Amino acid sequence: MNYLNKSKPKLAIVGAGKMGEAMISGFLKSGEYGPPDIQVFEILESRRKYINQTYNVKCVDDAKEAAFFADLTIIAVKPRHMKKALEQIAPAMKPGKIVVSIAAGVTLEFLRKHLPKDAPVIRVMPNITCQVREAMIAICPSVNTKKKELETVIGTLSLLGHVITLDEKYLNLATGLVGSGPAYIYLIIESLADAGVRLGLPKDVSIILAAQTTLGAAKMVVETGEHPAKLKDMVTTPAGTTVEGLLALEEGKLRAVIIAAVTKAAERAKQLEPA
Ligand SMILES: NC(=O)c1ccc[n+]([C@@H]2O[C@H](COP(=O)([O-])OP(=O)(O)OC[C@H]3O[C@@H](n4cnc5c(N)ncnc54)[C@H](OP(=O)(O)O)[C@@H]3O)[C@@H](O)[C@H]2O)c1
Repeated sequence: MNYLNKSKPKLAIVGAGKMGEAMISGFLKSGEYGPPDIQVFEILESRRKYINQTYNVKCVDDAKEAAFFADLTIIAVKPRHMKKALEQIAPAMKPGKIVVSIAAGVTLEFLRKHLPKDAPVIRVMPNITCQVREAMIAICPSVNTKKKELETVIGTLSLLGHVITLDEKYLNLATGLVGSGPAYIYLIIESLADAGVRLGLPKDVSIILAAQTTLGAAKMVVETGEHPAKLKDMVTTPAGTTVEGLLALEEGKLRAVIIAAVTKAAERAKQLEPA
């Protein structure tokens, strides 16, 4: 991240909804960014007030103004508002400025159509865990993005989690897993916690037991690089407790249900591209 110290791009966040706020919060928590380095455009006055009071960043009611300020403009509006947001920032896209879109289903072709011809644009699929700087972030640059511009974006987004560059054909698929994934994990944590309550554990204890167990298990996969099946085998002893639980999960078709959920979400991402 050394180069960021030398050339940290000033940021504009266009659309301060749930994701915009999670990103603002994550950038500030990183310590690399302070309030003067970020400007926010948000359409709702009440939301501008809230963001300004909570994060002390400047909130403006003109997207062009924020994009003029920034080296890197991150667009975090709903896919259906994308065309309008791009048209608003387009006049500010002078050479050297970079655009990032986090909108589900919105292709690079669509983004480039509504921006000046040479503007470098990166399609990104993050998730809400940007807020705690543990996001999975899949990215795909437009063909005209220069190596240095891509490095700038990777370095900046790395402050929010782990960045992976993918071919664009994988971005909608990654949306089903990365963008929607936290919701599925929350449901699993809630279910584990419900199980604890059913067995007689206090609810608050049960939730933390379930959440920390999920966090630890995920960390084992990331840090050891081992296949999850191997890690599962490590904790499954013959005639032990875990194998009984695994049998119940397989009988309930947990694996098939999760595969179906991610598939549905990816299909939905494909339908979201604005006309
Ligand atoms: N939520 C997730 O977990 C997640 C994960 C990955 C990617 N994404 C993507 O992130 C984007 C934002 O999602 P979100 O969940 O944060 O939605 P959200 O909470 O509805 O936030 C969108 C924000 O943009 C504002 N807005 C609407 N039109 C605008 C315009 N023309 N210019 C500027 N701001 C405008 C909205 O204001 P109004 O309330 O007035 O509409 C709202 O504050 C979406 O494109 C989504 O596909 C979301």
